[in-house]
Amino acid sequence: MTNANISKSSDTYQELSAFLTDWDQKYVESINSIQLFTGQELLNEAQKIHFVKLVYHLYRHSCQEIFWYLGNHAPNRQVKQTVLDNIAEEMGGDGCSHEQMYLDFAMDVGIDLKTEYFLNDSYPPFVSAYKRGWIELLQSTDSTGMACLLSACERLDNPDYMALTKVVNTFQLPKKSLTFFTVHSEAKHFELVEPVLLPLWQQDQNGVKEVFNFVFEYELKMRQQLSDAVCNL
Ligand SMILES: [Fe+2]
Repeated sequence: MTNANISKSSDTYQELSAFLTDWDQKYVESINSIQLFTGQELLNEAQKIHFVKLVYHLYRHSCQEIFWYLGNHAPNRQVKQTVLDNIAEEMGGDGCSHEQMYLDFAMDVGIDLKTEYFLNDSYPPFVSAYKRGWIELLQSTDSTGMACLLSACERLDNPDYMALTKVVNTFQLPKKSLTFFTVHSEAKHFELVEPVLLPLWQQDQNGVKEVFNFVFEYELKMRQQLSDAVCNL
């Protein structure tokens, strides 16, 4: 059965929505309990710089690598198109690219990230372990797993960027400097992958749950490591 047969009033849709609502809620509770993301941490200048550089590697570069891998190995045109839509959005059309938004934010914090792009051995080991883990995971999964992993990542986007926004709000920068975070907090990327996920959910609910729960733990672990690296500097 294709997604065209799955209406919003169907049991399949309702069951998936209930699972995702619960998953979202648990994720928000978990990330909010991590020191860096409580919104109460006031970072000193060195911690801010460390945070900006680590987020650049963890959220920007790792995503680029994951999307490049997915685009080249995704199971079908629909998943590949989702990847391409994401990349097109990243480029920003006639407007500013997301990369440029981040570089502008960093400049407003007082950091020029021009050279950071190449300093792939300057960050803590957990960053490269996180990136490597993602690629190994994609290499070891099948086409269904790949589509589920993409869906779980897209689902995390909004709560994740809301958590990051809480951190950068404490930097007391002009609102304009935070465009990168506002854009990502409000992005509707999950809607793009929902048509891919629904039939998979219908075929194998437990399989989808397993992938989502894996991503939940894997991503939360990285955020805890990010928090430790910044707060304990
Ligand atoms: Fe982006």
